[in-house]
Amino acid sequence: MTTETGSLAGLEAEALAALEAAADDAALDRWRAEWLGRQDGRVTVLLRGIREVAPDERAAYGAAVNALKQALEARLEARRQALKRAELERLAREGAIDVTLPGRPQPLGRLHPITRTLRDCLDAFRAMGFRVAEGPEVEWDRYNFDAARIPEDHPARDMWDTIWVNTLIDGKRRMLLRTHTTPNQIRVMERTPQPPVRVVVPGKCYRQEATDATHEWMLTQIEGLAVDEGVRMSDLKGVLYEWARAMFGTDRRIIFHHSYFPFVEPGVEMAIDCFICRGDGRQCHTCHGTGWIEILGAGMVHPEIIDNAGYDASRVTGFAFGIGVERVAMLRWGIEDIRHFYSNDLRFLGQF
Ligand code: PHE
Repeated sequence: MTTETGSLAGLEAEALAALEAAADDAALDRWRAEWLGRQDGRVTVLLRGIREVAPDERAAYGAAVNALKQALEARLEARRQALKRAELERLAREGAIDVTLPGRPQPLGRLHPITRTLRDCLDAFRAMGFRVAEGPEVEWDRYNFDAARIPEDHPARDMWDTIWVNTLIDGKRRMLLRTHTTPNQIRVMERTPQPPVRVVVPGKCYRQEATDATHEWMLTQIEGLAVDEGVRMSDLKGVLYEWARAMFGTDRRIIFHHSYFPFVEPGVEMAIDCFICRGDGRQCHTCHGTGWIEILGAGMVHPEIIDNAGYDASRVTGFAFGIGVERVAMLRWGIEDIRHFYSNDLRFLGQF
């Protein structure tokens, strides 16, 4: 029995040394199979050997081997926990986040200055009872020109250098990128059986222009149209003046010049005093020395257009205007060159 107990102590020491050397789960499993495996684990074999022990020694032998088995199981579990804890500590150490580092800045997007200006303009007109409508950017020549009293051989077509769509219809080019939002005057009246009409139509327009500080080949316009009984020129001026006050404040000066557009009679242009030279003119590149920057064309809708819409021109009258939104944004923020808007330079766009 002494030898048995002595050899059991030796076995335990050997098993524990091997357990200490096992450094991961796989090694622990191998150790378990070797010592505690059900079939031929070394301790299991000892337990099974109880049959060869003398009957009066069996109880003590069984107790001693069972104690060894339980001790080894407990040590195995303890070792497993210790390894798991060490692994977690390693992960925490290596994957640690340094909360004292400054965060990475997230750039915030915002609206383009033209979108902002466009929306502010529309808000001002909505407040005066205008509704917002839209029309196509690829337009028929009929709407862009003919219906607006600009027939094919009319010299006024030269006022708009047109970008045509190359598709031939009946041997002719009929579609174009609209040169202004004016075709929507006709489109809106066509789908409004009877006046009153009070609408603003925002949209992009295209012209084959030699670009300079105030001209771009793509521009944004807002077309305005009001048709009803008793609409007068003074209503037009009142609406535009009210809008100008909303956009520019009260200390801005506006001026109306007589002008010509085939679809209005009489026609005017409205200009605002140049923000660069403050109306002084002469050397100024932005207003070309005039002291004024033209921002819209307007006038009383030509009676022929009112008749063509199926309205009674002897009973109803109308006014129309077309605002250049880029010009408005330039005046608003003192931007000296229209080309900044579409050059996609974040140093410029980030300022709004
Ligand atoms: N469509 C004209 C232009 O683009 C502007 C305009 C609109 C003039 C409505 C008068 C009435 O130049």
